[in-house]
Amino acid sequence: MRAVQFTRTGGPEVLEVVDVPAPEPRPGQARVRHEATGVNFIDTYHRTGLYPVKLPCIPGGEAAGVVDAVGEGVTAVKVGDRVAYSGGFGAYAQANCVPADRLVKLPDGIDSRTAAAILLKGMTTEAFVRRTYPVKAGETVLVHAAVGGVGQIMTQWLKAIGAEVIATVGSEAKAARARALGADHVILYREQDVAAEVKRITGGKGVPVAYDSVGKDTFEGTLGSLARRGLFVSFGNASGPVPPFPPARLAAGGSLYLTRPTLFDYVATPEELAESAAAVFDMVASGKIRIEVGQTFPLADARQAHEALEGRATVGASLLIP
Ligand SMILES: NC(=O)c1ccc[n+]([C@@H]2O[C@H](COP(=O)([O-])OP(=O)(O)OC[C@H]3O[C@@H](n4cnc5c(N)ncnc54)[C@H](OP(=O)(O)O)[C@@H]3O)[C@@H](O)[C@H]2O)c1
Repeated sequence: MRAVQFTRTGGPEVLEVVDVPAPEPRPGQARVRHEATGVNFIDTYHRTGLYPVKLPCIPGGEAAGVVDAVGEGVTAVKVGDRVAYSGGFGAYAQANCVPADRLVKLPDGIDSRTAAAILLKGMTTEAFVRRTYPVKAGETVLVHAAVGGVGQIMTQWLKAIGAEVIATVGSEAKAARARALGADHVILYREQDVAAEVKRITGGKGVPVAYDSVGKDTFEGTLGSLARRGLFVSFGNASGPVPPFPPARLAAGGSLYLTRPTLFDYVATPEELAESAAAVFDMVASGKIRIEVGQTFPLADARQAHEALEGRATVGASLLIP
């Protein structure tokens, strides 16, 4: 099968197209023939070595397609089932073997491209807006990178539950998209002072929760945007990791809380995975969330997909098509 791998960490140029034998499912695994692979920012952290991986590595933790073989003892899925998964490695390939209990069956009406665009990013949203901090109708919430892959889903989800969304984006064109997604206020964070704008919009109060996946560049602005005893949800490093800081900063900011969650602790059991995925698919089926696949690349062009994502040139989700 065709796959994309890297044998050393570095820039997008380390991604190379290779032909490798298709993997055979071990006991408890199913093999998925991919129809679409989701591109996620975490794939770039693996490629650069920010998050250490074993080499050589076929990156990618999200794909959707059809089960074409099952290993011994697998009863949860059968050959022919339409499925998706999120987590692990090996999705930048025409097929991958995955523990059968990590597969999510796709409901009718959710095609493979939609599933690969929404499963990981949608469950991340579900976990963080419903469980890390249960956002309530009427609350004002800050969402950074609001028209990115996760951002577009988070913005729409928050609007669907009646929250007021303050969105940050990197350009005027993206600001128009954020408004189209329902954002109530848009801050151009490359030009404007985020904390000052948030304080202005909230009448000096600040927000009870802020979702920050940008990391290093937005850390101070996010801290300064929180209301007393507000929660900082730091969930990514698109601009680089947040540098170490003294806990006393949280006291000075108003007895703040900070959490650094990862999706995989919220979908760790088969039950949590099934519930989270079902909630995501419901949001799509009910029309509350409209999924934009902003960019589609052939699998062999994974390098260009990474360049676009890291170059802030994408909107919504990006897919690789095997
Ligand atoms: N913790 C978890 O479990 C979890 C799960 C999923 C995703 N995430 C995180 O969520 C974030 C979003 O992931 P995604 O795959 O949906 O990516 P994405 O949001 O589509 O892309 C990242 C966006 O971040 C913004 N950005 C700001 N500064 C940047 C910089 N210096 N370089 C590159 N981008 C920058 C850009 O939007 P603007 O042009 O508007 O600034 C860019 O489009 C990532 O940080 C990812 O690691 C975390």
